Amino acid sequence: MRNIERLVLSISVVSVVGCGGAPAPPFKLVSDTKTLMNSVIEKEANVVWESVGTIATLEGVEERRPQTEADWQHIRDAAVTITESANLLMMSPHAKDDEEWMAASVGLIDEGQRMISAIDRKSTQEVFDVGADLYEACVRCHRQYMPGVAIMYRR
Ligand code: HEC
Repeated sequence: MRNIERLVLSISVVSVVGCGGAPAPPFKLVSDTKTLMNSVIEKEANVVWESVGTIATLEGVEERRPQTEADWQHIRDAAVTITESANLLMMSPHAKDDEEWMAASVGLIDEGQRMISAIDRKSTQEVFDVGADLYEACVRCHRQYMPGVAIMYRR
């Protein structure tokens, strides 16, 4: 084989290997991280957190727990939304780095999946307990990346 042919062959092999895999999906940024937090994640987390617990008011003590199938479905939908949103956090331009940010996002997925399982078992106690772990998953990321909060943890 002449040198030029060998060169052409090796270039075509490289280019075939180089562009292996599907082209990048055509993502379109709709909301910045702050909007994603407020419009989706915080809103849905409140649906989950407020679904169980003891609330004391002037009128007395209210024990909150989902009552109907529709109530359970409502908080399950919220938990699914939070969990899938953690995948969005791992995409550009939300992602801040490849390490702790990704780990914190995966942490949110893990707690979200535990929450979905607790809801599927219709365990009020578990929803309450996992709710605290879910909150920790938020704080883990905010401690490092949310302006204002990060400052309080800086040493
Ligand atoms: C992987 C990182 C990460 C995780 C996990 C995360 N957040 Fe955030 N969050 C951020 C960042 C970064 C900001 C600051 C955004 C900004 O101000 O630009 C923020 C800001 C917020 C804000 C303030 C928005 C504002 O108006 O200033 C709320 C509320 C919030 N997050 C709720 C939550 C809740 C609830 C969870 C957990 C269920 C959560 N976040 C999990 C990264 C994260």
